[in-house]
Amino acid sequence: MAKKLFIETVGCQMNVLDSEIVVGTLKKQGYELATEATDADVILFNTCSVRQHAEDKIYSALGRIRIHMDENPHKILGVLGCMAQKDQELILRRAPHVDVVCGTGQLGRIAELIEDAKSSGKPQLALSLGRSDASKDEVERSFESYDPSRETAMRPNSFQAFVRIMFGCDKFCTYCIVPSTRGPEQSRSPDHILAEVRLLADQGCKEITFLGQTVNSYYYKHGDGRTTTLAGLFNLIHDTPGIERIKFVTNYPKDMDDELLDAVRELPKVCKYLHVPVQSGCNEVLKRMKRLYTVEYYIEMLQRCREKVPGVAVSSDFIVGFCGETEESFRRSCDLVEKSMFKNSYIFKYSTRPGTKADDLYPDDISDATKKRRNNDLLAYQDANSLIDHRAKIGSVVDILVEGPSKLAIKHPDGPRQLTGHTMTDHITVFDGNDRLIGNTVKVLIEDATAFTLFGRIVTDEVSGAALVSREATIAKPSVTPAAGRKSLEVIS
Ligand code: SAH
Ligand code: SF4
Ligand code: F3S
Repeated sequence: MAKKLFIETVGCQMNVLDSEIVVGTLKKQGYELATEATDADVILFNTCSVRQHAEDKIYSALGRIRIHMDENPHKILGVLGCMAQKDQELILRRAPHVDVVCGTGQLGRIAELIEDAKSSGKPQLALSLGRSDASKDEVERSFESYDPSRETAMRPNSFQAFVRIMFGCDKFCTYCIVPSTRGPEQSRSPDHILAEVRLLADQGCKEITFLGQTVNSYYYKHGDGRTTTLAGLFNLIHDTPGIERIKFVTNYPKDMDDELLDAVRELPKVCKYLHVPVQSGCNEVLKRMKRLYTVEYYIEMLQRCREKVPGVAVSSDFIVGFCGETEESFRRSCDLVEKSMFKNSYIFKYSTRPGTKADDLYPDDISDATKKRRNNDLLAYQDANSLIDHRAKIGSVVDILVEGPSKLAIKHPDGPRQLTGHTMTDHITVFDGNDRLIGNTVKVLIEDATAFTLFGRIVTDEVSGAALVSREATIAKPSVTPAAGRKSLEVIS
């Protein structure tokens, strides 16, 4: 009988991708996915350390499964990812029923670790080196993991995929744990990235999202001295047959150069969407965060983005209640949100992270009640702008890559069939339609909007009444890529 595997993933898209790769590797070893943890022979948690709350969730899940593990000693329980790299042996002290602790850079060894834990009956730890444990080269190698076995079944659908173009981060924002959990910043070779994109396209993938902690800092130095930037990478993969959309997250404000913005404007498959977190609207706070730019720089950068890429949508992240954030500093974040017209912002309450500069240097002096209030206040400014931004789309016709049934349709399976997908500017859109459209790009006329969602109607062919689907999307593998920007329309019924 096939061995069963259960995996729960928290954290960012990097973790989603890591889980996909772990499942791919283990499926090759004969594992099948289970939907319930207690049905599985191997139970894995892929973890996040970015805020305390994310860690608490995993420690409680580990607590809940303890009795089951004690009653089934042959089963294997593994903790993977950022919290594994950060907490290391502490995990075994807090949860002695854990069998495998495997850091982000060691996931390639997961199958071997599971086997070793089974045969020896002893916990197995696989961790990358700390920044000061060895030479830069050795530390880098301990985090390197080529992304080999892609598992389409782990993705929510076969036509969208993440592609990691960078590992790690060297920015060391003072609040952030990521440089220690993900290690030194390293750009993957363009050849490997292109090979992966081609493989995904051959499997039917239409939308690629490039991932990097600071994706626009991508910089690869070839053996012969040539270099490739993110703009170069876009050009390299742009005409891959089958690929229709190229997204990229997350951008670092300082590295938003004109070469990149020109490429975003000129290349039709590149989404006109920039996620560029600012974190705070107050220069003193930015300085304590070591973000390396000022509010004035950020505003100028925003203007440049909008001038260079007309119609571009921009979103941001904010941290509220960072050490020493006065009411006045916080008001500056509200002012920035009010002025910036972000499509949306992700707002987080500061969570002190042991081992970071901020935790060493500054007291976590803002109460949780104040953090909560500031979070809500800032969100209210953002929501007002999100509504304006979304309502401005009413009356326009947008291209939507249909991703699947909307949340509402999943909840009410007998109601009208509502589908959902994103525009080229990353706006979530909901509309009625047939399941056969899933995986195709359709034209949708926007008729209504809330602060979070666009609502529309599929534009149909006047004669047949069938949905208009872009031609490229209906051909599984076109032998010739349509020239950039020349997408003709075809009817799907
Ligand atoms: N590499 C990305 C994202 C890193 S983590 C970037 O640089 O933008 C995602 C978001 O979590 C950050 O943008 C930040 O807003 C938030 N974050 C990171 N550390 C945090 C902490 N200690 N407390 C609260 N929010 C945090
Ligand atoms: Fe963390 Fe800053 Fe790196 Fe983003 S850029 S991952 S916030 S250290
Ligand atoms: Fe969390 Fe690690 Fe991502 S800390 S946000 S899973 S890089």
